[in-house]
Amino acid sequence: MTGITTRNYSPDHAEELIRGRRAVRSFRPDLVPDSTMRAVFSLASAAPSNSNTQPWSVEVVSGAARDRLSEALLAAHAQQRLSVDFPYRDDLYDEVHQRRRKDFGEAMYGALGIGREDREARDAYNAESLRFYGAPHVALVFAPSNADARMAADIGMYGQTLLLAMTAYGIASCPQGLLGFYGDAIRESLEIRGGKLLFGVSFGYALESAPVNHIAVGRAELGETTRFRA
Ligand SMILES: Cc1cc2nc3c(=O)[nH]c(=O)nc-3n(C[C@H](O)[C@H](O)[C@H](O)COP(=O)(O)O)c2cc1C
Repeated sequence: MTGITTRNYSPDHAEELIRGRRAVRSFRPDLVPDSTMRAVFSLASAAPSNSNTQPWSVEVVSGAARDRLSEALLAAHAQQRLSVDFPYRDDLYDEVHQRRRKDFGEAMYGALGIGREDREARDAYNAESLRFYGAPHVALVFAPSNADARMAADIGMYGQTLLLAMTAYGIASCPQGLLGFYGDAIRESLEIRGGKLLFGVSFGYALESAPVNHIAVGRAELGETTRFRA
């Protein structure tokens, strides 16, 4: 399809799709059919990018390769073998963002029955995320080896387009920045060279009965983030 469509899309559909997407952290083992997988990733590649450079490079991992990857991640985690392609700092977040982060953590760990001070249980849950929360598939989204923060904008655009494409096809997902702390372990396991890892997306079908899939994660009031000027 080419050209700009003048069709009026239904805002109701957009509301449903965009607000209907949720980070899912408990999955059924059922595989996504190959044809659906190809349709979803093809749709995601319609994401916008600077000068249409499409600088993303995506590894979709399933089956035995997925199991090997999870083992490699758990081993790296046990040995504290971290490698970040995009540096992380603890003081990355200012006060307002710290507060939102804390609210989110309380909602999530609350649903899991994990107390605030229970470091051990929180760490164990982090390790669980290296099993992709039980999802049968994970997509690793890489930027080129020479990428800087500017290119991260393209990768972010791709990421949200991918999540919405999955939602439209009834596939649940969880974007996982934590996977970006294990770039070397992931490249080794997948036998790939180069590329900078920003995040992975675990995906499959949601385990509806899991309380963690029903946490209320709100958003800041519009005025807190957005100003309209005239
Ligand atoms: C870049 C990025 C990294 C994220 N990393 C993680 C992660 O490592 N583990 C996790 O469980 N969720 C992760 N999330 C999911 C967020 O926690 C989630 O999107 C946020 O709390 C809002 O909730 P919602 O997606 O259900 O609306 C990440 C989301 C984004 C966009």
